[in-house]
Amino acid sequence: MRIEVQHSCENYKSFRAEKVKSLFNPESGHTWSHIADLPVEGNDWQIGLIVGASGSGKSSLGKQVWGADRVYDLYSGWDNEKPIVDCIAPEGDFKTVTGALASVGLGDVPAWLRPFKVLSNREQFRAGLARLTVEAPDKVVVDEFTSVIDRQIAQVGAAAFAKAWRRNTGKQIILLSCHYDIIEWLQPDWVYDTRTADVKKNSSQGLLFPSTYGRSTAVTGSFLKRITI
Ligand SMILES: Nc1ncnc2c1ncn2[C@@H]1O[C@H](COP(=O)(O)OP(=O)(O)O)[C@@H](O)[C@H]1O
Ligand SMILES: [Mg+2]
Repeated sequence: MRIEVQHSCENYKSFRAEKVKSLFNPESGHTWSHIADLPVEGNDWQIGLIVGASGSGKSSLGKQVWGADRVYDLYSGWDNEKPIVDCIAPEGDFKTVTGALASVGLGDVPAWLRPFKVLSNREQFRAGLARLTVEAPDKVVVDEFTSVIDRQIAQVGAAAFAKAWRRNTGKQIILLSCHYDIIEWLQPDWVYDTRTADVKKNSSQGLLFPSTYGRSTAVTGSFLKRITI
């Protein structure tokens, strides 16, 4: 699917704005565009990742791919008067909820009894993922995936989440992240790198995305040459 992002805002003409323009000659302060070909058609995938530096267009693409209402906020919609175990699928099955919390790594039972607002960053992130795996919308986008947690937790959390999400057969998620270090843990079906405007697909045997990816490593063809499947 080809997605064209065209942003624009007012072309300011203040003294300072004009001075900046004359000094630096920026091509386009008031416009921003990016064209991406995302492999979202078809049902042969469940997890996609859009990765790239801040400001490279991830959120814009994420909002446009299926519409802004498909963007899921892990951190909103919690009732802070209730423990998280009551907030996730209140009408649903108890075991599904506790199972989801444990499957994304929130196995610390006392934390289930606390409201969302008092949880640590790591616990909030995991509680959000647990709720998402239980609600399991058919098509969903999660922005700032693993942004606010430390890297080791992010990596383990990405692996646990991928495993939990894949149990939701047929459901598709696109994660947006500025961290390349989660790729090999997440093992998404495809990765779109906003830096290179390039898509890499995982093989059906899995593990296309090897440990050679560093945090600042672009998902480029040269890396793929090293992969043995
Ligand atoms: N209305 C707008 N007019 C001009 N530029 C915009 C507008 N909205 C966003 N941008 C620019 O678009 C770029 C991409 O933004 P965004 O999609 O939020 O990136 P990311 O999520 O990767 O950090 C940024 O450089 C931002 O400043
Ligand atoms: Mg963003």
